[in-house]
Amino acid sequence: MNKRLVILGAGGHGRAVADAALKMGYRTIVFLDDRAAGRCIGFPIAGPLDRAEALRDGETDFVIALGDNRLRRRVAMGHDLPWARIVHPSAQISPFAELGAGTVVLAGAAVNVCARVGRHCIVNTGAVVEHDNMLEDFAQVAPRAALGGSVRVGALAQIGIGAVVKNNVAVGMGCVIGAGAVVVKSTEPGGVYVGVPAWRREKGAAG
Ligand SMILES: CC(C)(COP(=O)(O)OP(=O)(O)OC[C@H]1O[C@@H](n2cnc3c(N)ncnc32)[C@H](O)[C@@H]1OP(=O)(O)O)[C@@H](O)C(=O)NCCC(=O)NCCS
Repeated sequence: MNKRLVILGAGGHGRAVADAALKMGYRTIVFLDDRAAGRCIGFPIAGPLDRAEALRDGETDFVIALGDNRLRRRVAMGHDLPWARIVHPSAQISPFAELGAGTVVLAGAAVNVCARVGRHCIVNTGAVVEHDNMLEDFAQVAPRAALGGSVRVGALAQIGIGAVVKNNVAVGMGCVIGAGAVVVKSTEPGGVYVGVPAWRREKGAAG
């Protein structure tokens, strides 16, 4: 691959995305960031996010590497760019799974047969997205979280680090599932759930 990747966001997730992209064979990386300048892991930060369109050419892909789901959605809605799928070479993606444009799958993650992952999702390091899962756009599965078979994750939902979601459960849109939680029943949209088994901590906190 002789392409350049522009990464929108030069924070920790941006660096992880760059690392995966280089291992995929991207020739070089350019970051954009509203708050940082200079260089990031040796690659230039070429300006704020709204410079993205100016960097468009036939040999450049783009990806949004902002861990905040709502911010990622806002940036995606504001730009019409060729969004790349970034998949670390050590991730296991079934040939019968689907990944939407702009989605990132990091090292050691698994996306199993007939899973469908929407646009601009994050499947983070070592996460497991089992067979027949459906992740809607802008959802995120944190490192080492595991989703059993036929789980549905609503748009903008966040599954916390090391959390477990039992098979056939639906996680509502915009839910936040806390680190280490075990979700055994479907969750209401926008709720924050923690604990084992997970309970709703409060209403409306997921914004
Ligand atoms: C659940 C979560 C969203 C709550 O965040 P918050 O609203 O900022 O909560 P706070 O840190 O203020 O903690 C509030 C209370 O909830 C408890 N709590 C926080 N996270 C918890 C969790 N995962 N499980 C159980 N209890 C938790 C705290 O101990 C605290 O209890 P207290 O009021 O008795 O002292 C957050 O703690 C979390 O788990 N986020 C997931 C992070 C993650 O996976 N990131 C991955 C990045 S790659």
